[in-house]
Amino acid sequence: MKPKIYLTRKLPKLIVDKLNEVCEVRMWEKEEEPVPREILEKEIQEVEGLYCLLTESIDTDLLNSAPRLKIVSNMAVGYNNIDVAAATEKGIMVTNTPGVLTETTADLTFALLMATARRVVEASDYLRAGDWKTWSPMQLTGQDIYGATMGILGLGRIGEALAKRASGFDMKILYHNRSRKFEAEGRLGIQYVDKERLLRESDFVCVLTPYTPETKNNISAAELSLMKPTAVLVNTARGGIVDEEALYHALKNGGIWGAGVDVFEEEPVRTDHPLLSLPNVVALPHIGSASQNTRLKMALLAAENLIQGLLGETPKNLVN
Ligand code: GLV
Repeated sequence: MKPKIYLTRKLPKLIVDKLNEVCEVRMWEKEEEPVPREILEKEIQEVEGLYCLLTESIDTDLLNSAPRLKIVSNMAVGYNNIDVAAATEKGIMVTNTPGVLTETTADLTFALLMATARRVVEASDYLRAGDWKTWSPMQLTGQDIYGATMGILGLGRIGEALAKRASGFDMKILYHNRSRKFEAEGRLGIQYVDKERLLRESDFVCVLTPYTPETKNNISAAELSLMKPTAVLVNTARGGIVDEEALYHALKNGGIWGAGVDVFEEEPVRTDHPLLSLPNVVALPHIGSASQNTRLKMALLAAENLIQGLLGETPKNLVN
């Protein structure tokens, strides 16, 4: 008998077909709407495998109602939406999708950095609103990127990929990470500094750490106050790593110059969120890994992890 699995979102046919070869698949049929919690609570009771997205909170209560569950496969590299400790205690495997989204997410991080520094969205809105009366010397002027100092907080795969992009812009590259990475320093021409120095000296501070209890509000009022008034903060990791209220005040009061934000503490972010009222914020709907190829690779990798786990193999991307 095929193992039963539940997919929390409608996925491309290619992926569903692959899962169907090995599993009995049930799926939430909507693409643009997350599965309601009560439906997930019901579905999870029967299944051995769960294929989920970062929009689902896989917490202890949910895991407690899943007596047959062997594996939770998350279609994301971050897995802060899953209580991994609770899963481990119950002998449930947890997998993620690292590697395949590295370059795409680094691209978006750099795109967001550039868009914020050069006021791309604001300038486009200005033109469309009919406000462009003449070319004028200081109109819509931003911050230089070429030759500036990049500060990378969290030197994982994406941090390293970002450093490569920064090298192409002849940037001085500082990084801070839980552990110093000597080999990467030589390879990428980057310099390890403490967090305080990174914040003080960087023109661009890019947040790329995982979201854990230790990194919650890692950037809050004290950290923002160390940054240059001309500095730009870019967050493509998780919203909760930056204290949004403190960020709002720093941006509003000239503590820092701008912010590019792809992730929010609560997603989808409310359209009346204070950050969205500021012209010096470029806000995106969590699209770091959103290229067509990369999203398909992530979906496929999550399917492979799930199948490996259900067939009794060790999944390639086991996190516990
Ligand atoms: C997206 O944010 C991911 O973690 O893959």
